Amino acid sequence: MEYQKDTLQNLSQLQLDLIKKRKSTVAFSEQEVSKAQIEQIFEATRWAASCFNEQPWRFIVATKDNEALHEKVLNGINPHNQKWAQNAPVLMLTFAKKSFSLNESPNMHSWHDVGLAVGNMSAQATAMGLYLHQMAGIVRDNIFNDFDIPEDYEAVTAIALGYKLDVEDVPEDLKEREQKQRNRKSLNEIIFDQDWGSSSF
Ligand SMILES: Cc1cc2nc3c(=O)[nH]c(=O)nc-3n(C[C@H](O)[C@H](O)[C@H](O)COP(=O)(O)O)c2cc1C
Repeated sequence: MEYQKDTLQNLSQLQLDLIKKRKSTVAFSEQEVSKAQIEQIFEATRWAASCFNEQPWRFIVATKDNEALHEKVLNGINPHNQKWAQNAPVLMLTFAKKSFSLNESPNMHSWHDVGLAVGNMSAQATAMGLYLHQMAGIVRDNIFNDFDIPEDYEAVTAIALGYKLDVEDVPEDLKEREQKQRNRKSLNEIIFDQDWGSSSF
């Protein structure tokens, strides 16, 4: 699709605003996310770049209307994260294929590529007014006991997806965490253009 120059300029500002609007909420509302919305989010997800176009990402997706599956995915999430993640209407597990399909050699970039795909997922969800929260805190033994995962796949993260509660509806025990200021390193801490550690940014 071709865009006019001024449309692109507006889009790029909007995109930056959305990137900054994204946050890892712990205050999920009960409002459900439809299958059509999930499909749109995954349309963005599957168009991520990947090493040799392997697309090593796989996802188990559970919505709250399938209570048994939602519980099963929740069981793969550690108790600390379960406290808030249980409220999310959509829970996911992410997996990376360990080897290249082409020649079965180890794919050293599979987790990187899962991250790229989830980056797309995150951007699309934000543009749709949704929030996601990724979790490294998963229980791999439970995941591999509860689901029939092929040997060539590793569990990478869990993801909670849904709408965010309005500030006044956030439960007392989550308030402090939800309202905590979000910080980022400055450009000169992450971009070096002379030697390591020195930056003109
Ligand atoms: C790979 C990955 C793993 C994470 N694991 C957890 C986790 O287990 N529990 C948690 O509460 N947050 C987890 N987070 C969320 C981060 O803590 C969060 O992204 C970070 O504090 C920055 O906050 P922000 O996403 O709101 O900008 C994880 C994020 C990523 C990308």
